[in-house]
Amino acid sequence: MESKEKIILTGDRPTGRLHIGHYVGSLRRRVELQNSGEYDEIFIMIADAQALTDNFDNPEKVRQNIIEVALDYLSVGIDPEKTHIFVQSAVPELTELSFYYMNLVTVQRLQRNPTVKTELEMRHFEGGTPTGFFCYPISQAADITLFKATTVPVGEDQKPMLELTNEIVRRFNHIYGDVLVEPQILLPDNAACMRLPGTDGKAKMSKSLGNCIYLSDSAKELKKKVNSMFTDPQHLTIESPGHLEGNTVFTYLDAFCTDEDFAQFLPEYKNLDEMKAHYTRGGLGDGTCKKFLLSVLNSRFEPIRERRAQWEQRIPEVYEILKRGTEAARKRGQQTLAEVRHAMQIDYFEDTALIAEQAKRFAQAKG
Ligand code: TRP
Repeated sequence: MESKEKIILTGDRPTGRLHIGHYVGSLRRRVELQNSGEYDEIFIMIADAQALTDNFDNPEKVRQNIIEVALDYLSVGIDPEKTHIFVQSAVPELTELSFYYMNLVTVQRLQRNPTVKTELEMRHFEGGTPTGFFCYPISQAADITLFKATTVPVGEDQKPMLELTNEIVRRFNHIYGDVLVEPQILLPDNAACMRLPGTDGKAKMSKSLGNCIYLSDSAKELKKKVNSMFTDPQHLTIESPGHLEGNTVFTYLDAFCTDEDFAQFLPEYKNLDEMKAHYTRGGLGDGTCKKFLLSVLNSRFEPIRERRAQWEQRIPEVYEILKRGTEAARKRGQQTLAEVRHAMQIDYFEDTALIAEQAKRFAQAKG
């Protein structure tokens, strides 16, 4: 179905506070998109039902992190006047739609999903894979299509989910008629942002590895983390030539710094290329690089920390924002679901033609 409207849907699982990887991979972009004024409607979902697919035995963790994620959204500049922030489990239309989509996806197709494969290896569920977890890509397709989203800004790891979503849309529209809209994925525009490594240089940022910079970290915590960042183990003295490959400080600079940052904080260089050339040649110490990175990060995170501190004083209002966002999401969802039920011919009670037709059929059979 061709959509005239431009609609964004995206979201995060509330399994922890959001970190710098979320910020460069998606949050920063969402705020820009929100403020561009180009979108008719924007929905950001706190995916608690999805979080429960692998945290069903820890509902308290999910419950605590709903408010953390909401605070993270508000502090980066998601504006509840422009964006509906909502809670997935409070929109039952999503569950219904997922159930219908299950008919359109094979078990074998789900087994091939690379993201699910990786997650299964990481989690090794005792006693087998929970069906809910196995099917979460289907539920994610429902998350996106219930809102007829045209644009889904997410990280690269979500690509297989979007591919599956588009397959479901095509299949649904082919079988039942043109109702659903195929969404487009919107990936980060800079390679460093695609997959920001942890502060220790490891590819995956995770709470258990203790290698994440959180949006809610204090200035003091940030400083400590930047100072302990992994650089180049062969760069033993300032004079020795340094390597950029796998050097986390430079990867973070790639993701964050602009020429204006040089003018403001490190005017010896015009831009990152000049700085990199000096590092590679030798003569530029890690301390200077870290100090610069810290200034850059502080300039981005200071306003975020300030906004968070303010919202933390208004917690009941934050829940009110989620409630209002959820109401708006449901309203939108109910419209799509009515169309879906009609297309699937399961809107029996609204279908007056059906009632008349059946009445006639049985009357004729008698006569
Ligand atoms: N899978 C996403 C994550 O792990 C969260 C999510 C759920 C999502 N439903 C979505 C993202 C729909 C984009 C669109 O963070």
